[in-house]
Amino acid sequence: MSRAGRSLPLPVAALLLAVVALCAARRARAIGVNWGTQLSHPLPASTVVRMLQDNGFDRVKLFEAEDAILGALRGSGLQVMVGIPNDMLAGLAAGGKAAADWVAKNVSGHVRDGVDIRYVAVGNEPFLETFNGTYLNTTFPAMQNVQAALAKAGLADRVKVTVPLNADVYQSPTGKPSDGDFRADIHGLMLSIVQFLAATGAPFVANVYPFISLYADPNFPLDYAFFQGSSAPVVDGGVTYQNTFDANHDTLVAALRRNGFGNVSVVVGEVGWPTDGDASASIDYARRFNQGFLAHVASGQGTPLRPGPLDAYLFSLVDEDRKSIQPGNFERHWGLFYYDGTPKYPLSLGGNASSLMRPARGVKYLDKKWCVLKTSANLADQKVGDSVGYACGLADCTSLGYKTSCAGLDAKGNVSYAYNMYYQTMDQDDRACDFNGLATTTSVDPSAGTCRFIIEIDVGAAAPRSAIGFAAVLAAGLAASVLSVLL
Ligand SMILES: *[C@@H]1O[C@H](CO)[C@@H](O)[C@H](O)[C@H]1NC(C)=O
Ligand SMILES: *[C@@H]1O[C@H](CO)[C@@H](O)[C@H](O)[C@H]1NC(C)=O
Ligand SMILES: *[C@@H]1O[C@H](CO)[C@@H](O)[C@H](O)[C@H]1NC(C)=O
Ligand SMILES: *[C@@H]1O[C@H](CO)[C@@H](O)[C@H](O)[C@H]1NC(C)=O
Ligand SMILES: *[C@@H]1O[C@H](CO)[C@@H](O)[C@H](O)[C@H]1NC(C)=O
Ligand SMILES: *[C@@H]1O[C@H](CO)[C@@H](O)[C@H](O)[C@H]1NC(C)=O
Repeated sequence: MSRAGRSLPLPVAALLLAVVALCAARRARAIGVNWGTQLSHPLPASTVVRMLQDNGFDRVKLFEAEDAILGALRGSGLQVMVGIPNDMLAGLAAGGKAAADWVAKNVSGHVRDGVDIRYVAVGNEPFLETFNGTYLNTTFPAMQNVQAALAKAGLADRVKVTVPLNADVYQSPTGKPSDGDFRADIHGLMLSIVQFLAATGAPFVANVYPFISLYADPNFPLDYAFFQGSSAPVVDGGVTYQNTFDANHDTLVAALRRNGFGNVSVVVGEVGWPTDGDASASIDYARRFNQGFLAHVASGQGTPLRPGPLDAYLFSLVDEDRKSIQPGNFERHWGLFYYDGTPKYPLSLGGNASSLMRPARGVKYLDKKWCVLKTSANLADQKVGDSVGYACGLADCTSLGYKTSCAGLDAKGNVSYAYNMYYQTMDQDDRACDFNGLATTTSVDPSAGTCRFIIEIDVGAAAPRSAIGFAAVLAAGLAASVLSVLL
């Protein structure tokens, strides 16, 4: 700017000031979000990017390097963490060539095109105990190979390599955060990784889930999961922990310090609360948790062992109807927004009331049509049960069940809900609303109370057109196998 050696014209100076002020304002509410794409009907990438901008997110975390998404993020001003799925770790660990190809194809070109990639996340929670050690030998070599490839591509200074880890890689034998250390069975491996992060200036990325603590332990003190003070605080020397997030975060900070890496920065890769599919997964709790967390971030106070700004990515942007429900039915309901970019509840992302979440704009829906059970149908008919099993095997029925948003439906309502989810998932194909003559379409919204009968997004030609009528499937003898998977 000073190159020309003279003062700037007034309008330009004013503009610059405005830009600086805007950046400062953005920084003050810096918050990221995870953008997962396991949906039968994903919103167009450009719609999502505009939604991220409208809501003031300044960073986004992706689980894969999808071209269409990275293309839409070009010049968006959003910082990007791009992920590598666990099933690619072995290949990337095997040699430098695969890592070089991955970086060339999925990073270099996009950076050149103006995508602000800051991090590559090599694997996703690879050391989860449920993976039985599958990725223990490949994660760190894959990180090293990707790092070397980035260095070769001249990107090592701007793109850092890290790995998002589940909070179960560290623990405290006493429950006090200050006694934190890495899990004994992977202690040596964790030190190698942390050493690597320290040497390259990359952050330790940890996913922190108070919801899971509550879900896994019915005796977990409810108020300790939130941020409004607790009747069961954890006293640790001179520090009193009033919420499990701070305690969990500081268990990691203590583990880093204990092992001589007290200067490694911590980024919270995932933090959030689901809204459906379990008794503890409610709109009220999600709002309470997320608003409390955002206020915590906005306060700039940090945690007792790490005062200062918190760097975090909320989990998650939208509900994903194709996620595995192996961990639980709540897994498809982590979104701050429904599948279509509608906010689920009023949430102030800036930590105050003047910045409530805004919906996605310009969303195109299918027709205003729903599929329901015919009023004449007999519930005792064996075909009804079979058809529900079939529909729910191929579409998402996780809003049905004990203490869910659709728990209030009667038996016929349940069947209609299942039929409609299947019909919408199949893009309202006529054959998908038959079920051996048991079903019919209606233009009257069957939604009742908290139970939303949805209409899917119109994804045009990209729609997954695998619809087959239930009768045809029955005839092919497939329904039995679908049901046996279900039951
Ligand atoms: C990234 O690059 C590799 C080439 O090494 C390719 O096989 C892969 O499919 C690309 N895309 C993603 C999403 O990883
Ligand atoms: C891990 O081991 C358990 C018990 O042997 C098994 O049931 C499960 O399928 C395994 N998981 C994976 C991801 O291999
Ligand atoms: C990892 O390496 C160890 C030691 O070489 C070996 O015993 C183990 O079977 C390997 N694990 C996997 C999942 O490949
Ligand atoms: C952190 O400390 C390690 C070991 O003392 C040092 O090598 C590294 O450069 C430091 N990193 C940062 C980001 O300060
Ligand atoms: C509320 O948030 C908005 C947007 O982030 C910000 O401009 C405003 O200054 C905040 N107000 C208060 C009182 O913190
Ligand atoms: C509706 O379906 C759910 C989930 O399958 C079940 O738990 C519930 O009992 C059903 N309700 C009625 C009234 O049949």
